Amino acid sequence: MNERRPMIAGNWKMNLNVKESLDFARTLLKETAGVEETDVLVAPPFTALRAVGETLAGSRIFLGAQNMHWEAGGAFTGEISPSMLLDAGCSHVILGHSERRSLFGETNEMIDRKLGAALQAGLIPILCIGETLEEREGGRTFAVIEKQLEESMKGLLKTGSMPDSVILAYEPVWAIGTGKTATPEQAQEVHGFIRKWLGRTFDPGLAAKIRILYGGSVKPDNISELMAKEDIDGALVGGASLKAQSFVPIVKYARI
Ligand code: 13P
Repeated sequence: MNERRPMIAGNWKMNLNVKESLDFARTLLKETAGVEETDVLVAPPFTALRAVGETLAGSRIFLGAQNMHWEAGGAFTGEISPSMLLDAGCSHVILGHSERRSLFGETNEMIDRKLGAALQAGLIPILCIGETLEEREGGRTFAVIEKQLEESMKGLLKTGSMPDSVILAYEPVWAIGTGKTATPEQAQEVHGFIRKWLGRTFDPGLAAKIRILYGGSVKPDNISELMAKEDIDGALVGGASLKAQSFVPIVKYARI
């Protein structure tokens, strides 16, 4: 057993209006009451953050945002700052999701800035990395992951240290929303690689504390075998996080 607390996080993406989000948050509060062995987080769309934050206040469910800008404020139409997320009740923020990278042109350099800004503001980042199918089939998975880590953590690398609260999420792009989960062995191989890299780059004691979540078609029927792997510390769930009937069993995977 390691000392890392498992985390199950739901990324709602661009789904659920305020009323739907509130109804769902209330259901989750009820149905996950008593779950103490696992951290639970939901990341609703920006418009529902505040309302969901108020509903979850004082509960064990953490509130995360799906993105943010690195600037503190100013003329950045359409963007949201770190302090605005704190103001809405967020403790966490997802950064560098593959949909942000591929559909909205986010680069490692931008993600590096966001990571620094999130930490400075006191938000816990969930930094996403992952290879495409083409990269995997070309035998470049580890090179791609290493480059994403090096470039999106440039600021942290300069300081030579990293807060142990930072969460990483390995999300192979080919497994997101496709129904194709990485096998537990494929996921473990990359998670192990990431932890070794953290150990080499920062220090092994820190690497042992960092939580690395897996994301990509996580469902109630594959969560347990993924969580059984040594370096898989949780899941970042998309589609299956939108319904209590699929998200609750994932949260309660340890009890099934
Ligand atoms: P799915 O669980 O729908 O594959 O999405 C994964 C994801 O992108 C979570 O951030």
